[in-house]
Amino acid sequence: MTIDRELQDIARRTWSAGNWDKVADFIGNAGPRLLDALDVSAGMTLLDVGAGSGGSVAIPAALRGLDVTATDLVPDHFDAGRQRAAQVGVSLDWVEADALDLPFEDESFDRVTSTFGHMFAPDHARAASELVRVCKPGGRIGLACWSPQGTIGRFFALTGEFLPPPPPGFVPPVAWGSEQYVRELLAPYGLDLAFQELLNTFIDESPQHYEDFMFANFGPLVTAVEALGERADEFRAANLALYDDINQATDGTLRYEGQYLQTIAVKPT
Ligand SMILES: C[S@@+](CC[C@H](N)C(=O)[O-])C[C@H]1O[C@@H](n2cnc3c(N)ncnc32)[C@H](O)[C@@H]1O
Repeated sequence: MTIDRELQDIARRTWSAGNWDKVADFIGNAGPRLLDALDVSAGMTLLDVGAGSGGSVAIPAALRGLDVTATDLVPDHFDAGRQRAAQVGVSLDWVEADALDLPFEDESFDRVTSTFGHMFAPDHARAASELVRVCKPGGRIGLACWSPQGTIGRFFALTGEFLPPPPPGFVPPVAWGSEQYVRELLAPYGLDLAFQELLNTFIDESPQHYEDFMFANFGPLVTAVEALGERADEFRAANLALYDDINQATDGTLRYEGQYLQTIAVKPT
């Protein structure tokens, strides 16, 4: 098995574990904010890559009258997505698709988006080329990616400290949250680029409640615990210590900011 194939199998197992749809409720307005910055209007076609259950971008876009295709490597998320969409009275297309090999013709979509989705595909240059390929000339690509130096970057780094080292050549997903890195990745395509550093606020009733919830529902944590065996308790304690360290609340609840980079790229005509 090639390293890429092996990494994709791990990614499928990781994101099938837990229940992303429940975790998705912690992502606030990153999607609607992205849609605002993308200057969308009813009737446009939009592809959302790594859409999960669609709550961030795909369903809000459909509510604005766009013709939306929601894709994900893991189709398990789509049942929850269809329920969410039905509850608000919209329908969209749900298509199983790897961000590294999008099953669409060149120049198919007016808008191409990913909130915290495509960043997990292991070959970043290939993911970038796929996003650009399926976007129409004059169309726009909008990305939201956790920053490496932010709190979510710290969570992923902590997980990395406990797990075996990744294969040589592995670049962490949060590299997509660095403006300089994204400029270099997208340089071959002559896109007009605009960047913004933004915050997603995470709020929960207590750090301990949040930890219990995340370790039950967030796939990367569920699979890390399975892999860690006897070190799982140590890993959980280290996570809880990090929540305490970043917590801005002083009343026993949890409130912290997740820093992310929003990228808007306009494809030349
Ligand atoms: C953090 S969740 C974000 C989901 C959604 N965009 C949101 O904002 O709610 C990451 C998503 O990326 C998906 N994913 C991971 N690797 C992928 C890949 N190579 N291609 C497409 N989707 C992928 C996962 O299955 C998961 O649904």
